Amino acid sequence: MKLKTLLTTTAAVAFMGMAAQAQTVGFAQIGSESGWRAAETTLTKQQAEERGIDLKFSDAQQKQENQIAAIRSFIAQGVDAILLAPVVATGWDSVLEEAKEAEIPVVLLDRQVDSSDELYLTAVGSDLVHEGKVAGEWLVGAVGDKECRVVELQGTTGSSPAIDRKKGFEEGIAGHDNIEIVRSQTGDFTRSMGKEVMESFLQAENGGKDICALYAHNDDMAVGAIQAIKEAGLKPGTDILIVSIDAVPDIFKAMSEGEANATVELTPNMAGPAFDALAAFWKDGTMPEKFIQTESKLYTPDDDPAGEYERRKGLGY
Ligand code: AHR
Repeated sequence: MKLKTLLTTTAAVAFMGMAAQAQTVGFAQIGSESGWRAAETTLTKQQAEERGIDLKFSDAQQKQENQIAAIRSFIAQGVDAILLAPVVATGWDSVLEEAKEAEIPVVLLDRQVDSSDELYLTAVGSDLVHEGKVAGEWLVGAVGDKECRVVELQGTTGSSPAIDRKKGFEEGIAGHDNIEIVRSQTGDFTRSMGKEVMESFLQAENGGKDICALYAHNDDMAVGAIQAIKEAGLKPGTDILIVSIDAVPDIFKAMSEGEANATVELTPNMAGPAFDALAAFWKDGTMPEKFIQTESKLYTPDDDPAGEYERRKGLGY
Protein backbone atom coordinates (compact mmCIF):
# COMPACT_ATOMS: atom_id res chain seq x y z
CA MET A 1 0.00 0.00 0.00
CA LYS A 2 1.27 3.52 -0.78
CA LEU A 3 2.32 5.51 2.27
CA LYS A 4 -0.10 8.20 1.13
CA THR A 5 -2.93 5.69 0.88
CA LEU A 6 -1.96 4.25 4.18
CA LEU A 7 -2.30 7.68 5.75
CA THR A 8 -5.80 8.20 4.49
CA THR A 9 -6.91 5.15 6.41
CA THR A 10 -6.70 4.14 10.02
CA ALA A 11 -2.97 4.76 10.26
CA ALA A 12 -3.51 8.48 9.73
CA VAL A 13 -5.80 8.54 12.71
CA ALA A 14 -3.11 6.86 14.78
CA PHE A 15 -0.60 9.57 13.80
CA MET A 16 -2.92 12.49 14.50
CA GLY A 17 -2.29 14.28 17.75
CA MET A 18 1.06 12.58 18.26
CA ALA A 19 2.78 15.99 18.25
CA ALA A 20 1.44 16.50 21.75
CA GLN A 21 3.45 13.50 23.05
CA ALA A 22 7.22 13.09 23.25
CA GLN A 23 8.37 11.28 20.13
CA THR A 24 11.20 8.86 19.68
CA VAL A 25 13.23 9.07 16.48
CA GLY A 26 15.97 6.68 15.41
CA PHE A 27 18.86 8.18 13.45
CA ALA A 28 20.84 5.75 11.28
CA GLN A 29 23.89 7.91 10.64
CA ILE A 30 26.70 6.88 8.25
CA GLY A 31 29.64 7.54 10.57
CA SER A 32 32.01 10.44 11.11
CA GLU A 33 34.05 10.37 7.92
CA SER A 34 34.16 14.15 7.48
CA GLY A 35 33.87 17.43 9.33
CA TRP A 36 30.57 18.00 7.57
CA ARG A 37 29.22 14.67 8.83
CA ALA A 38 30.24 15.51 12.42
CA ALA A 39 28.38 18.82 12.13
CA GLU A 40 25.26 17.10 10.79
CA THR A 41 25.30 14.73 13.78
CA THR A 42 25.79 17.60 16.25
CA LEU A 43 22.98 19.65 14.73
CA THR A 44 20.59 16.69 14.57
CA LYS A 45 21.12 16.03 18.29
CA GLN A 46 20.65 19.75 19.06
CA GLN A 47 17.49 20.02 16.94
CA ALA A 48 16.04 16.92 18.61
CA GLU A 49 16.77 18.27 22.08
CA GLU A 50 15.22 21.66 21.28
CA ARG A 51 12.03 19.94 20.12
CA GLY A 52 11.83 17.49 23.03
CA ILE A 53 12.43 14.52 20.73
CA ASP A 54 14.10 11.45 22.18
CA LEU A 55 16.81 10.70 19.56
CA LYS A 56 18.27 7.21 19.36
CA PHE A 57 21.57 7.56 17.54
CA SER A 58 23.43 4.86 15.64
CA ASP A 59 26.88 5.32 14.01
CA ALA A 60 27.26 2.75 11.21
CA GLN A 61 31.02 3.17 10.76
CA GLN A 62 30.34 3.72 7.05
CA LYS A 63 28.88 0.23 6.58
CA GLN A 64 25.47 -0.30 4.97
CA GLU A 65 24.90 -3.54 6.88
CA ASN A 66 25.25 -1.64 10.16
CA GLN A 67 22.70 0.92 8.99
CA ILE A 68 20.26 -1.83 8.02
CA ALA A 69 20.73 -3.49 11.43
CA ALA A 70 20.14 -0.12 13.15
CA ILE A 71 16.91 0.43 11.20
CA ARG A 72 15.67 -3.06 12.12
CA SER A 73 16.46 -2.35 15.76
CA PHE A 74 14.57 0.99 15.58
CA ILE A 75 11.58 -0.84 14.06
CA ALA A 76 11.69 -3.45 16.84
CA GLN A 77 11.74 -0.64 19.42
CA GLY A 78 8.67 0.94 17.80
CA VAL A 79 10.13 4.39 17.20
CA ASP A 80 7.87 7.13 15.82
CA ALA A 81 10.14 7.89 12.84
CA ILE A 82 13.53 7.02 11.38
CA LEU A 83 16.13 9.37 9.90
CA LEU A 84 18.44 7.66 7.43
CA ALA A 85 21.58 9.12 5.83
CA PRO A 86 22.16 6.28 3.35
CA VAL A 87 25.83 5.49 2.80
CA VAL A 88 25.20 4.13 -0.71
CA ALA A 89 22.26 4.53 -3.08
CA THR A 90 21.34 0.87 -3.69
CA GLY A 91 20.12 -2.04 -1.53
CA TRP A 92 17.50 -0.37 0.67
CA ASP A 93 14.23 -1.84 -0.65
CA SER A 94 13.75 -4.65 1.90
CA VAL A 95 14.45 -2.66 5.03
CA LEU A 96 12.39 0.32 3.81
CA GLU A 97 9.52 -2.10 3.10
CA GLU A 98 9.86 -3.38 6.68
CA ALA A 99 9.63 0.18 8.05
CA LYS A 100 6.59 0.85 5.91
CA GLU A 101 4.94 -2.38 7.05
CA ALA A 102 5.52 -1.20 10.63
CA GLU A 103 3.97 2.19 9.68
CA ILE A 104 7.12 4.04 10.69
CA PRO A 105 7.87 7.04 8.43
CA VAL A 106 11.45 7.25 7.15
CA VAL A 107 13.11 10.55 6.23
CA LEU A 108 16.26 10.47 4.11
CA LEU A 109 18.95 12.95 5.02
CA ASP A 110 21.54 14.42 2.61
CA ARG A 111 21.87 11.38 0.31
CA GLN A 112 19.45 9.64 -2.02
CA VAL A 113 18.45 6.00 -2.59
CA ASP A 114 17.37 4.30 -5.81
CA SER A 115 14.27 2.78 -4.14
CA SER A 116 10.72 3.86 -4.94
CA ASP A 117 9.82 7.15 -3.25
CA GLU A 118 6.73 5.41 -1.90
CA LEU A 119 9.04 3.75 0.63
CA TYR A 120 9.96 6.95 2.46
CA LEU A 121 8.10 10.03 3.65
CA THR A 122 10.47 12.66 2.27
CA ALA A 123 14.15 13.35 1.55
CA VAL A 124 15.98 16.45 2.78
CA GLY A 125 19.07 17.36 0.80
CA SER A 126 20.72 19.57 -1.77
CA ASP A 127 20.71 19.22 -5.54
CA LEU A 128 23.92 17.19 -5.71
CA VAL A 129 24.25 17.45 -9.49
CA HIS A 130 23.89 21.23 -9.22
CA GLU A 131 26.68 21.38 -6.60
CA GLY A 132 29.08 19.65 -8.99
CA LYS A 133 27.95 21.88 -11.83
CA VAL A 134 28.60 25.02 -9.79
CA ALA A 135 32.13 23.73 -9.05
CA GLY A 136 32.74 22.98 -12.74
CA GLU A 137 31.43 26.35 -13.88
CA TRP A 138 33.63 28.08 -11.33
CA LEU A 139 36.67 26.32 -12.83
CA VAL A 140 35.63 27.32 -16.37
CA GLY A 141 35.56 30.94 -15.25
CA ALA A 142 38.84 30.65 -13.35
CA VAL A 143 40.96 29.16 -16.15
CA GLY A 144 39.42 30.82 -19.20
CA ASP A 145 41.06 29.45 -22.37
CA LYS A 146 44.09 27.98 -20.59
CA GLU A 147 44.76 24.23 -20.93
CA CYS A 148 43.74 22.65 -17.63
CA ARG A 149 44.35 19.06 -16.58
CA VAL A 150 42.09 18.25 -13.65
CA VAL A 151 42.41 15.51 -11.04
CA GLU A 152 39.25 14.44 -9.24
CA LEU A 153 38.81 12.96 -5.76
CA GLN A 154 35.48 11.18 -5.70
CA GLY A 155 33.37 10.50 -2.64
CA THR A 156 32.38 7.06 -1.38
CA THR A 157 31.85 4.69 -4.30
CA GLY A 158 28.16 4.06 -4.93
CA SER A 159 27.00 7.02 -2.81
CA SER A 160 24.62 9.50 -4.43
CA PRO A 161 26.91 12.52 -3.83
CA ALA A 162 29.84 10.74 -5.53
CA ILE A 163 27.67 9.83 -8.53
CA ASP A 164 25.89 13.16 -8.83
CA ARG A 165 28.78 15.52 -8.03
CA LYS A 166 30.84 13.82 -10.73
CA LYS A 167 28.00 14.14 -13.23
CA GLY A 168 27.38 17.78 -12.33
CA PHE A 169 31.04 18.77 -12.64
CA GLU A 170 31.25 17.11 -16.06
CA GLU A 171 28.17 19.10 -17.09
CA GLY A 172 29.78 22.28 -15.77
CA ILE A 173 32.93 21.88 -17.88
CA ALA A 174 31.13 20.44 -20.94
CA GLY A 175 31.98 22.25 -24.16
CA HIS A 176 35.30 23.55 -22.77
CA ASP A 177 37.79 21.25 -24.46
CA ASN A 178 40.74 22.99 -22.79
CA ILE A 179 39.59 21.43 -19.48
CA GLU A 180 40.07 17.70 -19.09
CA ILE A 181 39.70 15.33 -16.13
CA VAL A 182 42.89 13.26 -16.43
CA ARG A 183 42.63 11.23 -13.21
CA SER A 184 39.68 10.33 -11.04
CA GLN A 185 39.63 8.06 -8.01
CA THR A 186 37.71 7.66 -4.77
CA GLY A 187 39.03 9.21 -1.58
CA ASP A 188 35.99 7.90 0.36
CA PHE A 189 35.17 11.41 1.64
CA THR A 190 38.01 11.21 4.20
CA ARG A 191 40.94 13.53 4.79
CA SER A 192 43.45 10.67 5.07
CA MET A 193 42.42 9.06 1.78
CA GLY A 194 42.28 12.45 0.09
CA LYS A 195 45.93 12.93 1.00
CA GLU A 196 46.94 9.41 0.03
CA VAL A 197 45.24 9.48 -3.39
CA MET A 198 46.53 12.99 -4.10
CA GLU A 199 50.06 11.74 -3.44
CA SER A 200 49.59 9.10 -6.13
CA PHE A 201 48.14 11.70 -8.55
CA LEU A 202 51.14 13.97 -7.95
CA GLN A 203 53.57 11.15 -8.55
CA ALA A 204 51.83 10.13 -11.78
CA GLU A 205 51.61 13.71 -13.07
CA ASN A 206 55.20 14.86 -13.20
CA GLY A 207 55.38 15.63 -9.48
CA GLY A 208 52.18 17.65 -9.86
CA LYS A 209 53.57 20.01 -12.52
CA ASP A 210 51.08 18.65 -15.07
CA ILE A 211 48.07 19.24 -12.81
CA CYS A 212 46.19 22.51 -13.15
CA ALA A 213 43.31 21.88 -10.72
CA LEU A 214 41.91 19.51 -8.13
CA TYR A 215 38.17 18.91 -7.89
CA ALA A 216 37.32 17.13 -4.62
CA HIS A 217 33.79 15.90 -3.85
CA ASN A 218 34.20 17.21 -0.31
CA ASP A 219 36.36 19.67 1.59
CA ASP A 220 37.94 17.09 3.87
CA MET A 221 39.53 15.29 0.92
CA ALA A 222 40.66 18.69 -0.42
CA VAL A 223 42.28 19.53 2.93
CA GLY A 224 44.16 16.19 2.86
CA ALA A 225 45.20 16.85 -0.75
CA ILE A 226 46.40 20.36 0.12
CA GLN A 227 48.78 18.80 2.62
CA ALA A 228 50.07 16.37 -0.04
CA ILE A 229 50.58 19.23 -2.52
CA LYS A 230 52.59 21.23 0.03
CA GLU A 231 54.71 18.20 0.88
CA ALA A 232 55.43 17.82 -2.87
CA GLY A 233 56.88 21.36 -2.86
CA LEU A 234 53.99 23.01 -4.75
CA LYS A 235 51.62 25.80 -3.72
CA PRO A 236 47.98 24.69 -3.41
CA GLY A 237 45.64 27.45 -4.55
CA THR A 238 48.27 28.84 -6.94
CA ASP A 239 50.18 26.01 -8.68
CA ILE A 240 47.14 23.77 -8.38
CA LEU A 241 43.68 25.33 -8.08
CA ILE A 242 41.43 23.71 -5.45
CA VAL A 243 37.65 23.50 -5.75
CA SER A 244 35.53 21.34 -3.47
CA ILE A 245 32.15 21.01 -1.72
CA ASP A 246 30.77 21.40 1.85
CA ALA A 247 32.04 24.77 3.19
CA VAL A 248 33.56 23.41 6.41
CA PRO A 249 35.66 25.71 8.62
CA ASP A 250 39.00 24.16 7.59
CA ILE A 251 38.49 24.94 3.91
CA PHE A 252 37.83 28.58 4.83
CA LYS A 253 41.06 28.58 6.85
CA ALA A 254 42.89 27.20 3.79
CA MET A 255 41.16 29.79 1.59
CA SER A 256 42.13 32.64 3.90
CA GLU A 257 45.75 31.42 3.63
CA GLY A 258 45.55 31.34 -0.20
CA GLU A 259 45.58 27.53 -0.32
CA ALA A 260 42.03 26.86 -1.61
CA ASN A 261 39.99 28.69 -4.23
CA ALA A 262 36.31 27.73 -4.08
CA THR A 263 33.81 25.64 -2.15
CA VAL A 264 30.08 24.98 -2.59
CA GLU A 265 28.14 24.99 0.66
CA LEU A 266 26.12 22.02 1.86
CA THR A 267 24.18 22.91 4.99
CA PRO A 268 24.65 20.39 7.83
CA ASN A 269 21.23 21.31 9.20
CA MET A 270 19.21 18.64 7.43
CA ALA A 271 17.42 17.69 10.66
CA GLY A 272 15.59 21.02 11.08
CA PRO A 273 13.49 20.63 7.88
CA ALA A 274 13.17 16.87 8.57
CA PHE A 275 11.72 17.39 12.05
CA ASP A 276 9.42 20.16 10.73
CA ALA A 277 8.03 17.74 8.13
CA LEU A 278 7.62 15.02 10.76
CA ALA A 279 5.88 17.40 13.18
CA ALA A 280 3.25 18.27 10.55
CA PHE A 281 2.87 14.59 9.63
CA TRP A 282 2.47 13.51 13.24
CA LYS A 283 -0.02 16.32 13.91
CA ASP A 284 -2.58 15.66 11.20
CA GLY A 285 -1.04 13.35 8.60
CA THR A 286 0.22 16.20 6.37
CA MET A 287 2.34 14.74 3.58
CA PRO A 288 5.48 16.79 2.82
CA GLU A 289 6.98 17.25 -0.65
CA LYS A 290 9.01 14.18 -1.64
CA PHE A 291 12.16 16.31 -1.79
CA ILE A 292 12.93 19.22 0.53
CA GLN A 293 15.82 21.05 -1.09
CA THR A 294 18.51 22.97 0.79
CA GLU A 295 20.65 25.82 -0.63
CA SER A 296 24.00 25.37 -2.45
CA LYS A 297 26.03 28.60 -2.28
CA LEU A 298 29.45 29.12 -3.87
CA TYR A 299 32.16 30.68 -1.67
CA THR A 300 35.44 32.12 -2.99
CA PRO A 301 38.20 34.24 -1.41
CA ASP A 302 35.94 37.29 -2.04
CA ASP A 303 33.52 36.01 0.60
CA ASP A 304 35.50 36.79 3.76
CA PRO A 305 36.96 33.29 4.33
CA ALA A 306 38.64 34.30 7.62
CA GLY A 307 35.27 35.52 8.91
CA GLU A 308 33.51 32.40 7.68
CA TYR A 309 36.08 30.28 9.52
CA GLU A 310 35.43 32.19 12.76
CA ARG A 311 31.66 31.97 12.32
CA ARG A 312 31.68 28.22 11.68
CA LYS A 313 34.45 26.83 13.83
CA GLY A 314 32.28 26.28 16.94
CA LEU A 315 29.36 24.67 15.10
CA GLY A 316 30.33 21.04 15.60
CA TYR A 317 32.32 20.52 12.38
O1 AHR B 1 26.39 13.26 1.78
C1 AHR B 1 27.07 14.45 1.99
C2 AHR B 1 28.54 14.22 1.99
O2 AHR B 1 28.87 13.23 2.93
C3 AHR B 1 29.38 15.40 2.39
O3 AHR B 1 29.67 16.25 1.34
C4 AHR B 1 30.61 14.72 2.86
O4 AHR B 1 31.49 15.53 3.55
C5 AHR B 1 30.00 13.62 3.67
O5 AHR B 1 30.81 12.62 3.97
